[in-house]
Amino acid sequence: MDIRVVNLRDCDGLSDTRVVPFYEGIDLSESLDYLGLNIEAMVSHLVREEKFTGKYGEIESFRIPREKNPKNIILIGLGKEDELDCEKVRKLVSKIINESQKLDAKSVKLFPFHLRSNFPVEDFSKAVSEAAIMAAYKFDKYKTDEDKKDSSLKEFNIIYKYDENIEKLNLGVIEGMILGEATILARDMTNEPPNNMTPEIMAETAVKAGEDFGFDVEILDEQKIQSLGMEAFLSVGKASDNRPKFIIMRYSGNKDNSEEVLGLVGKGITFDSGGLCIKPAASMPEMKSDMAGGASVVGALCAIAKLGLNINVVGVVAACENSISGKAYRPSDIIGSMSGKTIEVINTDAEGRLTLADAAYYVVSNENASKVIDIATLTGAALVALGTSTTAVVSNRDDFYRLVEDASSISGEKIWRLPAFDEYRELLKSDIADIKNTGGKNAGTITAALFIESFIKDTPWIHMDIAGTSWAEKKSDYIPKGGTGAGVRTLYHVAKIMSLSSKNKVYHK
Ligand code: BES
Ligand code: MN
Ligand code: ZN
Repeated sequence: MDIRVVNLRDCDGLSDTRVVPFYEGIDLSESLDYLGLNIEAMVSHLVREEKFTGKYGEIESFRIPREKNPKNIILIGLGKEDELDCEKVRKLVSKIINESQKLDAKSVKLFPFHLRSNFPVEDFSKAVSEAAIMAAYKFDKYKTDEDKKDSSLKEFNIIYKYDENIEKLNLGVIEGMILGEATILARDMTNEPPNNMTPEIMAETAVKAGEDFGFDVEILDEQKIQSLGMEAFLSVGKASDNRPKFIIMRYSGNKDNSEEVLGLVGKGITFDSGGLCIKPAASMPEMKSDMAGGASVVGALCAIAKLGLNINVVGVVAACENSISGKAYRPSDIIGSMSGKTIEVINTDAEGRLTLADAAYYVVSNENASKVIDIATLTGAALVALGTSTTAVVSNRDDFYRLVEDASSISGEKIWRLPAFDEYRELLKSDIADIKNTGGKNAGTITAALFIESFIKDTPWIHMDIAGTSWAEKKSDYIPKGGTGAGVRTLYHVAKIMSLSSKNKVYHK
């Protein structure tokens, strides 16, 4: 979708569909301006009959007979002026996109409205563009032509009135569009069936993303992975004919400050059958999305690189398939790891943490990551605890967590922190090895996180369990059914806050 910022002077005849926003309880004359007499009469009628009050989320559309551009009018309620925020704007835009699709619109123009003075225009245009791209997303590449219903909506124009806003509006649109594109790339990867998102294809997708968005990608094959000593990672992938790949993505946006490197580690299980501890059939199909964390890291690097953030980032994904065969690793196997720690495998379905242990250790020891964020569809327990709206977070640093919290409030992706007390670490002690890969049935999200923590050498660390948020059973607002791209925008904003604070030194003591 193309998103543009257009001056009011130049918008006559621009789009087939026109969106007129209304605040609740505010004089309507401003919104009624430029409507044309007969449409103004129709809208005033609607309003007079009190069918339309401008309440938040209210939406009404009608066609104008015998007209072309515009032939459709959408009225949208913004709610109370002082309550509008970016997340509300995103949700409104998703309503506008839905309504436009129902009307079979090709192009919409959103008429200007007054933002209150402390609502930056660039935040507004960013929220509009990211939401427009996210809301219009469909994964229909496997539908054959007859069924395929391509969205006809191609253009979203943001009309502005005051010339002094143009630059800021454009900056917001660029940032929002890139974040939208990066998110839908992660969604596409997640939605691909596992026969078409093997470790190898995932690696190729990362290479292509690096070419398109401007970062370097190195792929390590099995032999190289072996020589690095990643036995935990290789054990998980042992049973599959689709051989493992280790994906390294590097973006050096701040060469003057080579000590600061943000390491992003994404879980990349291209299909999780559970291994010998096989999953029940009903919960298996969703396990094609067990590489969603890896997809989010690819997406985040795309946005970080394309927007040229002033920071060094290394993303890694240990991509493999947790399958079953005579070569499979077993419950009770004791395996090594790149760190040298030995691991007692209690459950082959707790595979993600094994791959992440080696990937996280690698990014700290071989890429000099000074901060690490891992993002993973790690535990069903995260779904039980927080449902599908909120990502579970565990961290070993309060100030780093606060930074991520700030990033999450900018992106609108909800997070909630779980505790990391020593009592939970106790649960991972093995009788016969250094650590075991499950901590029992209690506190599953925390023990899974703390397993990974034991491989990062006390580096400031954030763990994001997106088992609940990376996959949607049904559509809501700008989140479609299926892969959601959860984490892409939050990770980008973490990098952005870090890139600004390395200059201004606001965030770190
Ligand atoms: N990939 C799953 C976690 C998951 C579950 C993601 C549901 C999305 C939706 C993970 O590998 C897994 O199987 N975890 C086990 C861990 C257990 C064996 C300790 C789980 O959560 O049951
Ligand atoms: Mn599993
Ligand atoms: Zn898994």
